[in-house]
Amino acid sequence: MKFFIDTANLDQIREAQELGVLDGVTTNPSLMAKEGITGRNNILKHYVDICNIVDGDVSAEVISTTYKEMIKEGDELAELHDQIVVKIPMIKDGVKALKYFSDKGIKTNCTLVFSAGQALLAAKAGATYVSPFIGRLDDISTDGLNLISEIRLIYDNYGFETQILAASIRHTMHVIDCAKLGADVMTSGLSSITGLLNHPLTDSGLAKFLADYNKGN
Ligand code: G3P
Repeated sequence: MKFFIDTANLDQIREAQELGVLDGVTTNPSLMAKEGITGRNNILKHYVDICNIVDGDVSAEVISTTYKEMIKEGDELAELHDQIVVKIPMIKDGVKALKYFSDKGIKTNCTLVFSAGQALLAAKAGATYVSPFIGRLDDISTDGLNLISEIRLIYDNYGFETQILAASIRHTMHVIDCAKLGADVMTSGLSSITGLLNHPLTDSGLAKFLADYNKGN
C-alpha cells in the first residue's frame, strides 16, 4: 500500500518524507489556499517545491472545467516536473481529458469520486489513480469504506490497472480499514500517518526495557 500525504504544507511533507514511508503527495485548491498559496505563479512554484522534497507522484489539480481548457492546463502542469500527476475532476469533460492524458502517457488522478459507477468510468478512460472520498461520504451518513470494497471488486473483475487512491481519510482507522479492503494507495493528513505509531503497550514496554537495562548499569 502506498502512503501519500494530503497537504500543501511543506513542513508536514518534509516530516513525512523524513519518516521514510512517504510515496507521494496529493493537493487540491483548498489545501493550497489553507497554506496561503494563491495566484497561478505561486501555485505552480509550490508544486515544484513539493516535487523537490519527495521522490514520488505529486497530484496537481486543474481548475478548468471544459475539455479544451483542462488539457491545456494539464499539459502545462505536467511540464512542470516529471513527478506531476494531473488531477482531474469526475465530470463529463474530465473523463475525456483523462483519456487524452492516458493516450499521451501522462499520469492522472481522477478526483471527487463518490460512486462505483464514476470509478468504473475513470478506469475505462485510463486514469492512473481514482480518488474515492471516504470521509465526505461518511459525513453524509453513507458508508465510505463500502465504496472502496465496491471499486476493488469491479477493478479486480476486469483487471483494470487504475489504482484505488483512498482520499478524504480522517483518522488512523480509515487507513487500516482501507488497507484491509485492498486500496492501492491512501492519502491523509500527517496525523493519520503518525497515529499509526501509537500504542500504550509499546510505550510502557519500552519504559520497562530501559528501566531494566539501567538496573545493571
Ligand atoms: O484531497 C482530496 C481529499 O482528500 C479531501 O479531503 O478532508 O477535504 O474531505 P477532505
